[in-house]
Amino acid sequence: MLDNKTISELYQAFAASPNGFLIVDSGSPSFAVLPYKAYKALRQSQANSSKKINKILVTGGAGYIGSHTVRLLREQNYEVVVLDNLSTGRGEAVGDAKFIEGDFSDRDLLDRVFLEERFDAVMHFAASIKVDESVANPAKYYESNVVGGINLVNAMVKAGVVRLVFSSSAAVYGEPQISPIGEESVCHPTNPYGETKLCFENILKWYSGAYGLSSVSLRYFNAAGALPEAGLGYNRSLDHTHLIPRVLDAALGKTSEIEVFGNDYDTSDGTCIRDYVHVLDLAAAHILALTKLETDSGTHIYNVGTGRGYSVLEIIDEVMEVTGRMIPMKIGARRAGDPGRLVANSQKIQRELGWKPEYDLKSIIQSSWDWQKQ
Ligand code: UFG
Repeated sequence: MLDNKTISELYQAFAASPNGFLIVDSGSPSFAVLPYKAYKALRQSQANSSKKINKILVTGGAGYIGSHTVRLLREQNYEVVVLDNLSTGRGEAVGDAKFIEGDFSDRDLLDRVFLEERFDAVMHFAASIKVDESVANPAKYYESNVVGGINLVNAMVKAGVVRLVFSSSAAVYGEPQISPIGEESVCHPTNPYGETKLCFENILKWYSGAYGLSSVSLRYFNAAGALPEAGLGYNRSLDHTHLIPRVLDAALGKTSEIEVFGNDYDTSDGTCIRDYVHVLDLAAAHILALTKLETDSGTHIYNVGTGRGYSVLEIIDEVMEVTGRMIPMKIGARRAGDPGRLVANSQKIQRELGWKPEYDLKSIIQSSWDWQKQ
């Protein structure tokens, strides 16, 4: 510990030389005294110089999960280029990352981008993601999630970029036989959305053997939450289909009530159970996936969920608790294709990558509420 006199002398020296100074002892420099920001930047650049992966292309980086991950990557001084067509994303959500507006499936654009920039890895978030739309219009889902994805990995292979983190989904499992669901569980998707995610996971497996493309597929459970203080969250101007934003709309009086889709499931209160995972925990899983790709090649698959399930009624109760508002609700019919219970066994990612969920349901709902009220 420094005494008060030394600290006040250091402050005076900083006033004269705000970028830092050397303390010279017997004619040779003994210590460098730096502003904390400069010290932190120095430490980070030392850490970066030992990183194999530094420059990342992020497709869909202006979207919900993508933008939170971009922020974390930038905080850790990764160089980031976002490719997003802004169909659902928000330009302002990419922060200080370089931004290219365009479609990830555009082959000419991809060739140009991979020629101009030298990437160490790609994170692929961009996708069509609505389950009910995928049932009504499967062509759109095969086109973007499979054909578009193939264009992306072909461009990567051509450019010699061989590391990919892929946004997969718990939708690949369909109606699970066993709960919580482990990665080894049978995959029987019940809709084209899940089917196209599974199809792309399989493409990655074959591309690994044939072209040396290494990948980590992260099977997200129910992504939720926001980071309102950084201006990040789900796109509020889109029509919500997800439960938490819809319940919050009812709390705000934007809608007259929340409809509960079925209360005759084989669960404790009859409503569907889901595993809600904070978007910041998902973002953290992506950084760990990158570090996995620094040391391991091949194809890797991880569930990303907390292992704790909540029913629709429990979510509504928690929203009432956090917001202090009454939420009118009605019980409606089941929604087609909804499994009764989707809860992750996430032991594998915890064991192999050291991931651990940091945020509980209350912080998920509080951050969503703060975001939605803004
Ligand atoms: N729900 C309602 N009322 C609503 C909206 C939803 O009761 O107005 C219920 C649904 O029936 C479901 C639960 O709330 O039981 C959660 O529904 P969401 O639409 O929020 O999320 P899903 O579980 O249907 O799907 C999400 C993603 C999928 C992913 C899945 C993985 O959208 O991509 O989580 O767990 F595959």
